[in-house]
Amino acid sequence: MAFSRRRAKFQNASANSVRSGFPASSHSPQILPFGPPILPHGDSPLENPESPDYSSRGQRSHPFFNAMNALTRCLELYWSSSIGKKLVVALTGLFLVLFLAGHLVGNLVVFMGPEPFNAYAYFLHHMLHGAGIWVFRAVMLVMLAAHIIATILLTKQNKAARKAYEHPATIQASRSSRTMIFSGLTILAFFIYHMLHFTVRVANEYNDPKRYSFILEGKEVHNAWKMVIDGFSWAPASIFYVIAMTLLASHLAHGVQSIFQTLGLRSKKSASLLNQLSIGYALFIWIGFVSIPVAILCGFGR
Ligand code: HEM
Repeated sequence: MAFSRRRAKFQNASANSVRSGFPASSHSPQILPFGPPILPHGDSPLENPESPDYSSRGQRSHPFFNAMNALTRCLELYWSSSIGKKLVVALTGLFLVLFLAGHLVGNLVVFMGPEPFNAYAYFLHHMLHGAGIWVFRAVMLVMLAAHIIATILLTKQNKAARKAYEHPATIQASRSSRTMIFSGLTILAFFIYHMLHFTVRVANEYNDPKRYSFILEGKEVHNAWKMVIDGFSWAPASIFYVIAMTLLASHLAHGVQSIFQTLGLRSKKSASLLNQLSIGYALFIWIGFVSIPVAILCGFGR
């Protein structure tokens, strides 16, 4: 009798709680973000296995929490699978590929002279009242880190799986992924050098306002144009950039078509077109970026 009264109380309480979205209790619940409200011990329908709100993980059944749990489990499952990591590599790769096109177009403004280039650099540093560049940096860091971590984990996973299937086709695939890892690591080394060179501006005077200032519409701004000219006037730096851009182009020639493949956009029919598109894009990036140090070494701007 007492048991059935208790059971009816629980069923009533949980029905109310499902309707309202909050547990029915005489005490006020403690509500945590993205988690179930915590009730005093003994009060929660979670503790009654017969309650419809009871779940094996001790969490209240609620559409929002269920959706969050399902999403977390889905992401965990995806990340642990090799196709999930491939998708992360492809999507972050797509972001980086698009960034390169934008960065190249911006950099080519250097050929238009100091005023347009410094105006462009000033705009980049001051968009959204200066917050834009930091938002971009944060997104770039996340994308780059996810791209590298997913690639490393994927390579490890593939290596372990390959031991069981030593077959000519997989050996071929491993050769191309080894080339990708090598070019990828060189690009990473270049990227760190590039940040120290033009962003942090260490070991040179590019941050010196006396030597690197420019008057733009009556305002004193950083002379990014002169920094680029001086940076590439030193031959070893220019040669390093040209080598890095060559490896970047090789990375892109394979990487761009891999993006289409992972996203399921590559078929037998479109394979050769996508192949040409990847090589064409890699060439466009290579010629565009390499033209800057080469032109400066040949005397442009000096
Ligand atoms: C010849 C080739 C390149 C030139 C001349 C060049 C030039 C520059 C310059 C001048 C800046 C600083 C702008 C400023 O702060 O005023 C910059 C920033 C940057 N570059 Fe490049 N770049 C080149 C290639 C690349 C490549 C290949 C990548 C990527 C792999 C890259 C990634 C970046 C990034 C992410 C920033 C932003 C740094 C920040 O947060 O301020 N650059 N680049």
